[in-house]
Amino acid sequence: MGKLAVNIPWSGGEFRLNNPVLAASGTFGYGVEFASYGPLEALGGLVTKGLSLRPMPGNPMPRIAETPCGMLNSIGLQNCGLERFMREYLPRLPRNGPKIIANIYARNLADFSELAATLSRAPGVAALEVNISCPNVEAGGLLFGQEARAAAGVTAAVKKFSGDLPVLVKLTPNVTDITEIARACADAGADMLSCINTLSGMGVDVRSRRFLLARRIGGLSGAAVKPVALRCVWQVAQAVSIPVIGVGGIYTAEDILEFILVGAWAVQIGTANFSRPDRIFALPAELSALMDELDIASCAAFRGTLA
Ligand SMILES: Cc1cc2nc3c(=O)[nH]c(=O)nc-3n(C[C@H](O)[C@H](O)[C@H](O)COP(=O)(O)O)c2cc1C
Repeated sequence: MGKLAVNIPWSGGEFRLNNPVLAASGTFGYGVEFASYGPLEALGGLVTKGLSLRPMPGNPMPRIAETPCGMLNSIGLQNCGLERFMREYLPRLPRNGPKIIANIYARNLADFSELAATLSRAPGVAALEVNISCPNVEAGGLLFGQEARAAAGVTAAVKKFSGDLPVLVKLTPNVTDITEIARACADAGADMLSCINTLSGMGVDVRSRRFLLARRIGGLSGAAVKPVALRCVWQVAQAVSIPVIGVGGIYTAEDILEFILVGAWAVQIGTANFSRPDRIFALPAELSALMDELDIASCAAFRGTLA
């Protein structure tokens, strides 16, 4: 499957993926939980659940609700904290094969810097993905991702302490102009951009007259958001020269090719992992077969070739 290999250029060299299929943050646990559904080695990489310096309990329940073509969540970045991740989960992830990308979240620049510094020395971590786009927390999250100067500040702080690791910054679609934030992050030193996090959304129940989520507003993901994600990836890929990773409503090999066509170097599979946790492992082979059918020689040859 050599044609699936992707070499993503960044300031420190090339970020090499065996294939462009990654698991998205928050939908794949810390990776090890999905090992019983298929070989993690089949993936190009996986992004961990968002990690904070200290454990976080997340928001009150209910914090997940199904929608006609996707889901709403307000998990609120529940996670085991950096130290436990490094002690319990990281050593159980494969070393040679899928790239392990640590997704990080903090309320302030000092904590972002500490997360980056510690993870940059953690054996097995291949990259950092900075979450400045979570709609489900009181502090940090969207507050960093909706304002260009704040987004640049977080990017620069993480970049300063990230050592030899490439830094991906994950953008929110909940802004007027995503390219403004993208440019600010690129100028501040981001090596890649992940587009997109969830869209701000809400659900209600006419029988109980209640909000579906305890926190009322949450993030929409799944098939419903794919057109928004495609638009964002396309716009951002035009606006910056650093590579873009596509995420949002991707379920099939054809979805993956759509994102590569509009300019993505790789993609992340999120909500699809909840309905079919085994599905992601088949996607690289399905992508390869579809590329053969469509006479596509390599991901690089197809990327950004939208007429
Ligand atoms: C339950 C849930 C938890 C998530 N947690 C995180 C997270 O911790 N950090 C993050 O950057 N994105 C998180 N996301 C966003 C996803 O990684 C992804 O960007 C988004 O869901 C869009 O992709 P999808 O439609 O394929 O799910 C979460 C999404 C869901 C549904």
